[in-house]
Amino acid sequence: MRIVSGIQPTGNLHLGNYLGAIRNWVAMQDQVSAGGGQCLYFLADLHAISMPHVPAQLSANTREMVAALVACGIDPDRSILFNQSQVPQHAELQWLLNGTARMGWLNRMTQWKDKAGKNREGQSVALFTYPVLQAADVLLYQATHVPVGEDQKQHLELARDIAQKFNNDFCTEDAPLFTLPEPYIPPEAARIMSLRDGTAKMSKSDPSDMSRINMTDDADAIMQKVKKAKTDPEPLPSEAAGLEGRAEARNLIAIYAVMAGTTVDAVLADFGGQGFGAFKPRLGELLAETLAPINERFVALREDNAALDAILRAGSEKARALAVPTLNATYAALGL
Ligand code: ADP
Ligand code: NA
Repeated sequence: MRIVSGIQPTGNLHLGNYLGAIRNWVAMQDQVSAGGGQCLYFLADLHAISMPHVPAQLSANTREMVAALVACGIDPDRSILFNQSQVPQHAELQWLLNGTARMGWLNRMTQWKDKAGKNREGQSVALFTYPVLQAADVLLYQATHVPVGEDQKQHLELARDIAQKFNNDFCTEDAPLFTLPEPYIPPEAARIMSLRDGTAKMSKSDPSDMSRINMTDDADAIMQKVKKAKTDPEPLPSEAAGLEGRAEARNLIAIYAVMAGTTVDAVLADFGGQGFGAFKPRLGELLAETLAPINERFVALREDNAALDAILRAGSEKARALAVPTLNATYAALGL
């Protein structure tokens, strides 16, 4: 089993990023490497230029994301952790696959339609051909599995269509070049809501810092934010059905359950009948305790650009070694 997955380098990481995305990568690494498989995780910095961006921010965000991933438990000795732009084979293979991908296939991508909206003419060509780069990202390593959420299923299908057409057009039946990757259904990710109202996603773009718990927040900041989180005056119900119509309460209970590795019902069995005055300090402690070691590593690592660059350099070297044979075979198959 070889899993390839990319993440956009974003800055200002928060609890939602951790519980909704990064933690799943760590779980996948542990599961896959225990089974003798291999995970390749990359920072999708080449994808980032398909939208308007600030160059200095992109490199800072790439480093920050690496610091967060390593602090949260991605182990650069067990997983191959790298950034796309240091492995030029991604861009090269994309160009070669552009000869196989069809305009009609890309025109049908719902993400393209959503992101471009009514202004297709004004979009970068990169935004349109982004799914071909995604195909190259996984086909380059002969990935057997790719983790996909609902919104990425169509892009994985496209990668399979490109691989299949290339194999049909340029390879003999008994020696196909590309492995058709299967979807890997990741463990269900938590969706964490804003501490301000419980209905909007916790997000870095919320102007209020009190709406989210940042990966850089220390124990005091965490406790203060949890205590100030919006709630209602009712006591907690003793089972999940009683959270109906109480978005803020549901969010805090859900966060507690995810952090404690238990269910909403089990949390309510403990706290049912109590008010938030009793529950919030317990949630604050649980968050602060669980996040403290991560926070400590993260804060130290993000100061250490040399260490972060060394991690990416070493990972990129390993990735290139895996990528070169497939890229060479692709050139050869095309008569180049
Ligand atoms: P933001 O919404 O803060 O801009 P991004 O869109 O950069 O975050 O998301 C980066 C990753 O973190 C994505 O995989 C996304 O699904 C996940 N993520 C972001 N916010 C949340 C949240 N509130 N709950 C769960 N997952 C989240
Ligand atoms: Na976002």
